Amino acid sequence: MIQLDHVSYTYDGSENALADISLNIADGASLALIGANGSGKSTLMKIISGLTIPSSGVYRLNNEEITEKKLKDPRFSRMFHKQIGFVFQNSETQLFCSNVWEEIAFGPLQMGLTVQDVQARVTEIMDLLEISHLKKRPPYHLSGGEQKRVAIAATAVMNPDVYLFDEPMNNLDPKNKSFLRQFISRLNQSGKTIICSTHDFAYVDDLFKKAAVFSETHQLVRLDDYSRVLADRDFLTKMNII
Ligand SMILES: Nc1ncnc2c1ncn2[C@@H]1O[C@H](COP(=O)(O)OP(=O)(O)OP(=O)(O)O)[C@@H](O)[C@H]1O
Ligand SMILES: [Mg+2]
Repeated sequence: MIQLDHVSYTYDGSENALADISLNIADGASLALIGANGSGKSTLMKIISGLTIPSSGVYRLNNEEITEKKLKDPRFSRMFHKQIGFVFQNSETQLFCSNVWEEIAFGPLQMGLTVQDVQARVTEIMDLLEISHLKKRPPYHLSGGEQKRVAIAATAVMNPDVYLFDEPMNNLDPKNKSFLRQFISRLNQSGKTIICSTHDFAYVDDLFKKAAVFSETHQLVRLDDYSRVLADRDFLTKMNII
């Protein structure tokens, strides 16, 4: 269970990037984060993933407050990051190894699994994402769609409970969008929590039960059934979303 209690965040001490957000996300939820550019969706995901710490307010994961001090403890940090996987908006910034196999094996090797276990996990995940043929390629020479699959594989190989997807459909062709839609849907059906920002509503239909809508003033203005939010065209227009 993810609990945000009056969370605000400012990058440089000036304006809020998130303003007083209170939000609970239950285990197994599928939540879309919707809002105009700059409304705070990526910032919220950075907080949930522990990449940034709230400037004020409290973030709890499974009833435990997540603080900078705790995240500096290697044991706590490993346990925390094992639970939450983050697929960045821009895959390039996420990929740093010299080939795809190493990229996907990096997390499991850090966890101290045996080489055999790592090999088995990496092979399985590459099969699942249909990227086995790319295993020897350097990630920075791959196409955007291929990079996205590798970034997802590097996250999924850790088997986190919570997946954060930051605009995963960006720049994907229709076939890749359908593939990813199905992949995310299956994760959710298997009990994983899905939190996903999106501007691309055509390909994510039916994926989300709930939507959290953020305003250009960085507030959470509506938490409702996804289908109800999407049907409310006047509201979406007013929020500068369509
Ligand atoms: N590294 C940063 N330094 C300073 N300000 C930032 C930084 N990253 C984001 N911001 C500001 O924080 C606010 C929220 O940005 P954020 O990236 O979370 O929005 P978003 O909803 O993800 O937008 P988009 O739909 O364009 O991805 C914006 O006003 C943005 O200018
Ligand atoms: Mg963003």
